[in-house]
Amino acid sequence: MQASANAARIAENEKPKSKKFSLKTPYMKQGRVTQLVAETTNMWIHTKINAEGGENEIHQHLDEDHAFIVLEGQMSVFDETGAELKIEQYQGVMIPRGAYYRYLNTGDDNLVVLRVGAGAKKQKQEGDAMRLGKDGKPLPVLPPLSAADQALYDPGKTTYMNTCAVCHHEAGYGNAGKGPALLDSDWLENEERLVRLVLHGARGPIAINGEPFNSEGALEMPAWAPSMDDQKIAGILTFVRREWQENPQPVQPATVARIRAATSNRSTQWTEKELLEIK
Ligand code: HEC
Repeated sequence: MQASANAARIAENEKPKSKKFSLKTPYMKQGRVTQLVAETTNMWIHTKINAEGGENEIHQHLDEDHAFIVLEGQMSVFDETGAELKIEQYQGVMIPRGAYYRYLNTGDDNLVVLRVGAGAKKQKQEGDAMRLGKDGKPLPVLPPLSAADQALYDPGKTTYMNTCAVCHHEAGYGNAGKGPALLDSDWLENEERLVRLVLHGARGPIAINGEPFNSEGALEMPAWAPSMDDQKIAGILTFVRREWQENPQPVQPATVARIRAATSNRSTQWTEKELLEIK
């Protein structure tokens, strides 16, 4: 038998031994945890439990191959083009080093996965979470949010997931027959239009990055001005921009307040034409 050239020699005084491990995990009402189950130098096993959400940011690992195996629940794994793999209980996904992905809990309850990683753990990472531009190329890593903007982002994310995701998808990919994609949408850029659109909604055909959407005019974006205060809308939009825009700027509550006051006599949803007239 020939030993692999790469395998480290076992030292004279080393006495490797088998070790039992358990896969018991807590049941959670919210949030997520990752627990180390067992590891050696070349392989590491974790359990990950997600009450909701997942790893929202598209990223890659350059120093390990890893696999997720679903023990309970259901997950969706997306690549950088938005292509989706649905992984059900007792199915798994192999993620080779360098492959971009993000995942979401798409079941009704806790998602419990076994994560097995293998590779060169000490090797230098070239950026862990990586955002991709429209051309699929990596974008520069964003500077962290200020404490004040983080305080908008965090509740904004929760509101987005509870209110907007049903039509626009948890990862901003849009939902056929309900709402268009927000990921890389050019509507995230102009703040005056964006805030108006969320305050009073939109109806009729609309182009997103030059692609026609809602050509029949059957779909509508509801108005949120009646049910959401300035702080809430600023939070959602700070989150949406940070996740899905190339050069994101937070949206401040004062901006929403100003635009709300300026459009207070509006009673109908915006049309694309009306919004484009706003500079
Ligand atoms: C009931 C489904 C629905 C919900 C809920 C909803 N939207 Fe929309 N949204 C739409 C539709 C439909 C359009 C396209 C409107 C049109 O055709 O003029 C749209 C358009 C948009 C656009 C501009 C187009 C784009 O793709 O960038 C943004 C931005 C947006 N919505 C943000 C939000 C935010 C933020 C929320 C949560 C506060 C939300 N939406 C909730 C259905 C929805």
